[in-house]
Amino acid sequence: MHPLQCVLQVQRSLGWGPLASVSWLSLRMCRAHSSLSSTTCPSPERQEDGAQKDFSSRLAAGPTFQHFLKSASAPQEKLSSEVEDPPPYLTMDELLGRQRKVYLETYGCQMNVNDTEIAWSILQKSGYLRTSNLQEADVILLVTCSIREKAEQTIWNRLHQLKALKTRRPRSRVPLRIGILGCMAERLKEEILNREKMVDVLAGPDAYRDLPRLLAVAESGQQAANVLLSLDETYADVMPVQTNPSATSAFVSIMRGCDNMCSYCIVPFTRGRERSRPVASILEEVKKLSEQGLKEVTLLGQNVNSFRDNSEVQFNNAVSTNLSRGFTTNYKAKQGGLRFAHLLDQVSRVDPEMRIRFTSPHPKDFPDEVLQLIHERDNICKQIHLPAQSGSSRVLEAMRRGYSREAYVELVHHIRESIPGVSLSSDFIAGFCGETEEDHVQTVSLLREVQYNMGFLFAYSMRQKTRAYHRLKDDVPEEVKLRRLEELITVFREEATKANQISVGCTQLVLVEGLSKRSATDLCGRNDGNLKVIFPDAEMEDVNNPGLRVRAQPGDYVLVKITSASSQTLRGHVLCRTTLKDSSENC
Ligand code: 5AD
Ligand code: SF4
Repeated sequence: MHPLQCVLQVQRSLGWGPLASVSWLSLRMCRAHSSLSSTTCPSPERQEDGAQKDFSSRLAAGPTFQHFLKSASAPQEKLSSEVEDPPPYLTMDELLGRQRKVYLETYGCQMNVNDTEIAWSILQKSGYLRTSNLQEADVILLVTCSIREKAEQTIWNRLHQLKALKTRRPRSRVPLRIGILGCMAERLKEEILNREKMVDVLAGPDAYRDLPRLLAVAESGQQAANVLLSLDETYADVMPVQTNPSATSAFVSIMRGCDNMCSYCIVPFTRGRERSRPVASILEEVKKLSEQGLKEVTLLGQNVNSFRDNSEVQFNNAVSTNLSRGFTTNYKAKQGGLRFAHLLDQVSRVDPEMRIRFTSPHPKDFPDEVLQLIHERDNICKQIHLPAQSGSSRVLEAMRRGYSREAYVELVHHIRESIPGVSLSSDFIAGFCGETEEDHVQTVSLLREVQYNMGFLFAYSMRQKTRAYHRLKDDVPEEVKLRRLEELITVFREEATKANQISVGCTQLVLVEGLSKRSATDLCGRNDGNLKVIFPDAEMEDVNNPGLRVRAQPGDYVLVKITSASSQTLRGHVLCRTTLKDSSENC
C-alpha cells in the first residue's frame, strides 16, 4: 500500500476538496502493521474478518496522491446541501447508518450540547436512528470536555464502564462501536486510541461532517480518527435538531473557537481559531425557531461578542474594532466585517416576543453600541456574563486577560450606567499559578464590590499545551486552592443573596418553563436576568382577554410578584398572563 494513500486527510468546510485547502496532514504509526498508516488502524480482534479483507483491498485501490493533486487542479464549488461523494474506498451504502442506533452523551458546556445536536443532525441524514436507551445502542458517542482535569477523569471512568458493555455484547448483535467526540478527542488525539483500544472513533470539534465516514471505517473493525481543525467550519448549514418538543428556548451557535490565548485555557487548542457564522444563516435559524413557537434564543460562542462575519465582501473594510475602554487583545487588531451589535440588532427584530440572550462573552468586546442596543431593545435580556477570572491585576496579567482590575471595575460601572437594572454574572478561578493570599483577598473584594447575581467558580487545573503549563508553575497547593474556592463560593452566595433580594416586592416578567422539579403544585420559569423564579400554579387573568381565567403553560409570559430571594432562586405569586411587548415590570 502506498503510504500516501491513507495519510492524507483533506478537509475544507464542505468536505473533500482541492489540495489547496489541505489543512492538516496526519502520520501515525500503526503498531499492528509497523508501517505508516492513516488515522485508521485495524483492531486485533477483527483482523481476520472477511469484511475487513474486502475493505483493505478496496482501500488499496483507493485514492492516490495523484488523486488529490487532480482534484486540486479542478476545484468545483459544491452547495453545502449536496450529498458528498463517498471516498473511493467506501461505497455509498457503507456510508449509510443502515438504521444503526446511536446513543449520544454530552459532557461540559452548552457549546457541547449544541455540538451534540449538530453531530446528530449529520448522522440522522446518513440513516442512523437515535436511542436514549444505552442497552439498545449500536454506537455510543461521548461529546467530551477538556477544560479541567476533573472533566476528563469523568470521561475516562465512563469509558471503563462502557468497556464492560462492549465485551459483554452478544455475538448475535452487531459489534458495539464507541466514539469520542469534541475537545478531549482534539486534545489527546491518538493517545486515546492507544490507551483505550475499545474506542473505535475519534472526531474533533470541526470533524463532525466526517462522522458517517469514520463510523463506516469503524464498521470494518478499524479505528478511525479525524482531529483536523478548520479555519472556516461553522456548521452554518447544519440545523441542529430540536429534540425536546416542549422546549421554550433554544441555543443558536453563532461563532466557534477562540483567539485570546488566556494562559490557563485549553480551548484555543481544542476548538481552534475564532470564526463566525454568516449573519443570514443565523437569522434563518432564528426565524425557524420563532415559527416553531420558541420564546427564547441564546446566541452561543466561545467569544460570542467578538462575532465578526467576514463572508460579505462589501463589509470587509478597514473599519477598526472598538474595544471596551482600557482593554487590549492578545492578537493583532482585526478590522471590518459585520460585528456583534449588527447581529444582535437583526436577531432581536425577528420576533419581538422572543427573548434574546448570549453567552459566553469576553469583557473586551462591549463597545457602547452593544450596551446601547441591550438597553433600548425590549426583547434583549438585561443580563451580561462578564468573566473576570481574578480580582488581582497581577494575576490577570499572568493570565493574559488583557485588562486590569481597575479597567474591569470601570466597565462594570459603565455597564450599570448604560443598562439600569442589568443582572451580572462572572467566572472566577481560584489558585492560579503564583496566586498569593493577597491576590486571593483582592478577588474576594471584587466579588463584594460587584455583587454578582450569578457566578461560576473553579479551582485552577493545569492543562498541558497552555502558556501557563510552559511558562508558569502550578505552585498553589491543592488544599489551598480548595480552601480559597470555598471562600469565594461563600462570599459569592452572600452577595448574590443581597443582590437578588432587591427584587423582593417587585413585579417581574417570567417566561414559564414548566413544573418545578421540587413540587408538583409549583411552576418554574426565568426572569429577564435568567434567574429561576418559582411560583404556585394558580388561575390568573389574561391581560389580552379580560375576564378570561387561565393557567400558565410552558412558553407563556406571566407577571410574578416576587416575595422572597436566595442566592439562586426567587419565589413569588403570579399576577396575570401577558406578552413581552405589553408587560410592565416595576423596579
Ligand atoms: N482551570 C480552571 N478553570 C478554568 N477555566 C478555563 N480554564 C480553566 C482551567 N485550566 C474556567 C474559566 C472559564 C470557564 C469556562 O472555565 O473561568 O471562563
Ligand atoms: Fe479560554 Fe480565554 Fe478563550 Fe475564554 S477567552 S475560551 S478563557 S482562552
